[in-house]
Amino acid sequence: MRVAVLAAPGRFEIETRPIPRPGAGEALIKISRVGICGTDLHMFNGHYAADNLPLVPGHEFTGTIAALGEGPERLRVGQKVVVDMNIGCGNCYWCRRQEILSCPSMHQIGITMDGAFSEYICVPERLVIAAPDDVPDAVLALVEPLACVVRAARKSQVTFGQSVVVIGAGPMGNLHVQLMRTIGAAPIIVTDLSQMRVDMACAVGADIGVADPEALHRTVMDVTDGRGADIIIESVGDPALYGLATTLMRKGGHIAAFGLTGAGETLAVDILSTILEENSIKGSVAGIGQDMHDALTLLVHGRIDPSLFSSAVFDLDDIQAAFDTHGKRPGDLKSQIII
Ligand SMILES: NC(=O)c1ccc[n+]([C@@H]2O[C@H](COP(=O)([O-])OP(=O)(O)OC[C@H]3O[C@@H](n4cnc5c(N)ncnc54)[C@H](O)[C@@H]3O)[C@@H](O)[C@H]2O)c1
Ligand SMILES: [Zn+2]
Ligand SMILES: [Zn+2]
Repeated sequence: MRVAVLAAPGRFEIETRPIPRPGAGEALIKISRVGICGTDLHMFNGHYAADNLPLVPGHEFTGTIAALGEGPERLRVGQKVVVDMNIGCGNCYWCRRQEILSCPSMHQIGITMDGAFSEYICVPERLVIAAPDDVPDAVLALVEPLACVVRAARKSQVTFGQSVVVIGAGPMGNLHVQLMRTIGAAPIIVTDLSQMRVDMACAVGADIGVADPEALHRTVMDVTDGRGADIIIESVGDPALYGLATTLMRKGGHIAAFGLTGAGETLAVDILSTILEENSIKGSVAGIGQDMHDALTLLVHGRIDPSLFSSAVFDLDDIQAAFDTHGKRPGDLKSQIII
């Protein structure tokens, strides 16, 4: 099978390897499509998990079951699937509480172990989620990123009629906007430095788009009768924008900490206001378990417009070009690799 190994930051190598055989409790998946995630780009640029290289990245994938090892007969060969990328140890304090993302021995497919930029992958059967046969691969490859957004929304306890500011209209910000629209949040204000990305977010559900940072605070206050918004989602990863978020939320508001900053970055919060106003900030990282199932359900039933996410499609052999040209194609919200 062909495999795209990230040999070192900035350099993919296409290798030929034997197709793995599924052991007991494992499923062999023939991969058909993989999304390129910001995390993959961070690895490519040498900013994240560089110690794990050489490694096959890729965790936003779909494919079909090629073979099953011994174990439960829940799945069938030929079935379309997506896969939860997070593998907990199953026994520790956090795994027992279903807080697998804090498991000290957690593995993540495509980050700490070889992933999906490959013709086949062997994964634990229990992490495989069956998908309907008639949903396009381009849509199923969106389940994992949408699951991250589902998790953040769940933690924010957002409900219909609540005002939301989404900071950053990249692929994740666009999904935040779409999920908020489907939940019934209103109004939804989106901001990005790119007018094109603001326009894309408005086309799929934002009520108000702001591309001028100077105008953001005034706009939010204007549409919330001077209170500030109920929920602010930071989907960029800039400490200054987390600071900005604290000025945009209402008393008793919530900040969804989503955009990944550098390690050690801090946010100064006014302790007394936090107490008196009962403000909250909550992190969420990745999408796992039920988040994956909910994301699949939303996509299967057309609650998310997938059309903006597969404008740039590359063959596995051209993966180097896909990564090299990322960011130079501003109209492309996301790239996908066809295998
Ligand atoms: N917590 C999680 O579960 C999770 C999952 C996936 C990604 N992420 C993180 O979420 C963030 C967003 O992901 P993405 O793939 O959309 O990233 P991206 O880099 O593709 O998009 C970020 C967007 O922010 C915009 N931006 C930059 N500076 C800005 C500013 N000052 N004001 C407004 N907009 C600004 C950019 O123009 C861009 O459109 C990243 O930090 C990523 O690492 C978090
Ligand atoms: Zn991802
Ligand atoms: Zn564990």
